[in-house]
Amino acid sequence: MNMLYVTRKAHFSAAHRLFNPKFSDAENQRVFDKCNNPHGHGHNYIVEVTVAGEPDPDTGYVIDLKRLANVMDEHVIDKFDHKHLNYDVPELDGVIPTAENIALKVWELLEPHITNGHLHSVRIAESDNNFAEYRGNRDEGGRMKDEGKNGPLSSFIPHPSSLS
Ligand code: NI
Repeated sequence: MNMLYVTRKAHFSAAHRLFNPKFSDAENQRVFDKCNNPHGHGHNYIVEVTVAGEPDPDTGYVIDLKRLANVMDEHVIDKFDHKHLNYDVPELDGVIPTAENIALKVWELLEPHITNGHLHSVRIAESDNNFAEYRGNRDEGGRMKDEGKNGPLSSFIPHPSSLS
């Protein structure tokens, strides 16, 4: 089997503030530092979505990247671009909008719409230096790994002890 990986890159610009409502103001400041700025701050995010599969014998495509681009626009970029991620994006309600949690949410939003091949990874870059990547719960052959009883989004709000 010739497994190939094709990637589409897209951008969105958005504001966010990192804080956990379960923390005191002082604890939020200690944990999140500048990212806790009460009125938020912005990033030019880069989203890289990789789909894995075998090329279709008739088209030579794993997935038509124009179609993947349209799916990303409709289900992610149009929802996130020029928004405040804490307040303006219902999909992120109750979620601390770190790059990690955005990657998990983007995966959840896109996965049902990838009908050629399978979603392999979602990488979110907040800056030139900081990235988070989620590779889902499949092994390289595309089989589902054990998701655990609550699925990949069960750990959205991190326990305070995991942040220190
Ligand atoms: Ni930030």
